[in-house]
Amino acid sequence: LARYKVAMIGSGAWACAAAHMMAQNTAQHDLADEFLTDVTMWVHDEDYKGRSLVQVINEEHENLKYFPGCRLGPNVVAEGSLEAAAADADLLIFCLPHQYMLGVCQQLMGKVKPGAAAISLIKGMRVQPEGPQLISQMVRRYLNIDCCVLMGANIATDIAKEELSEAVIGYQNLDHAERFKKLFERPYFRITLLPDPVGAEMCGTLKNIVALGAGMVDGLGMGPNTKATIIRQGLSEMREFSKALYPGVHDQTFLEGCGVGDLVATCAGGRNRLVACAWTKAQLEGNAKSFGTLEAEILKGQKLQGTLTSDEVQEIIKRRAWEKRFPLFTTINRIINGHLPPKYITNYIEGGAMEI
Ligand code: NAD
Ligand code: 13P
Repeated sequence: LARYKVAMIGSGAWACAAAHMMAQNTAQHDLADEFLTDVTMWVHDEDYKGRSLVQVINEEHENLKYFPGCRLGPNVVAEGSLEAAAADADLLIFCLPHQYMLGVCQQLMGKVKPGAAAISLIKGMRVQPEGPQLISQMVRRYLNIDCCVLMGANIATDIAKEELSEAVIGYQNLDHAERFKKLFERPYFRITLLPDPVGAEMCGTLKNIVALGAGMVDGLGMGPNTKATIIRQGLSEMREFSKALYPGVHDQTFLEGCGVGDLVATCAGGRNRLVACAWTKAQLEGNAKSFGTLEAEILKGQKLQGTLTSDEVQEIIKRRAWEKRFPLFTTINRIINGHLPPKYITNYIEGGAMEI
């Protein structure tokens, strides 16, 4: 009986937490006739204290640089060559900062197994002159394979501790979605199948912008009423923006784990919130630092997605003259680019922020 070969493309925080779950499942006796036990993990290799990171992961079974403390399991096998990691894989899981995904797709063009199934755990999009391209669309277009998405309130550090969490798998192909559900689902990780992959991916992408606004509110020392206002307005703009670009997106998707669930979690405990809070505080203290500097200082190699996504989404808003339709997204973008001070985060409704 053929067993599915699994490859994780990526090795950052979420990639490691997700590989930990998959490796628990593929090593499980009742799934042994479905999946090969070993999970290959592509690592963008680099030196780590005199050893290659690939070697470190294979010897220590932990990514000591990007996600220390998460035991990967001996059946996660690190691989430094992208082509070798993806070759022969039946199930490809993409999980890396979205800005690197185009290069990965270009490198893998014509090199993945025909008929392989993919799933993207990536939150972000690409913007081209002709319009936006979701990561799952990029995978389909460049690699010519089906691509589901897995989205939810999934802060990697908490999942690595095996705390209860939920996600949706957005799909076009139900067989593939069911296979990925078996691969990921754990007692502490619940999965619902959702036939709205575009809505789910848009939620995951856009909530990172709102999280920056939530971080600013925290940095300004404001309380939960203000933060709830930002979250509610953010959810409303997420839905409006998604439906403006993709009218087929379902309203219900915004009430799922990938919608309001992820938004609440990220605005409470995500990296975008954390760095935006520190950025705001640094400005108030007269010690302004760039997002890039704080990302490096605080996240130690992990990557922010919200600032890039805000610029990408704002390009679409600007091109279509939608600023008044998306006052919170626009205000956040103006603040992170230094065109407005952070205290204007609460001024989006009056449109006062628009005038400066
Ligand atoms: P991360 O933020 O930990 O990023 C670090 C990774 O980027 C490392 O593996 C590093 O090797 C890699 N990298 C650096 N330069 C690279 C290059 N030039 N090419 C390719 N890779 C390079 O990554 P993550 O947390 O696994 O996030 C991946 C995606 O998952 C993002 O879109 C993120 O929004 C999403 N996500 C993250 C979390 C989380 O809690 N971390 C949760 C859900 C979704
Ligand atoms: P951050 O990148 O802001 O940490 O968000 C993680 C996430 O997407 C949780 O679901």
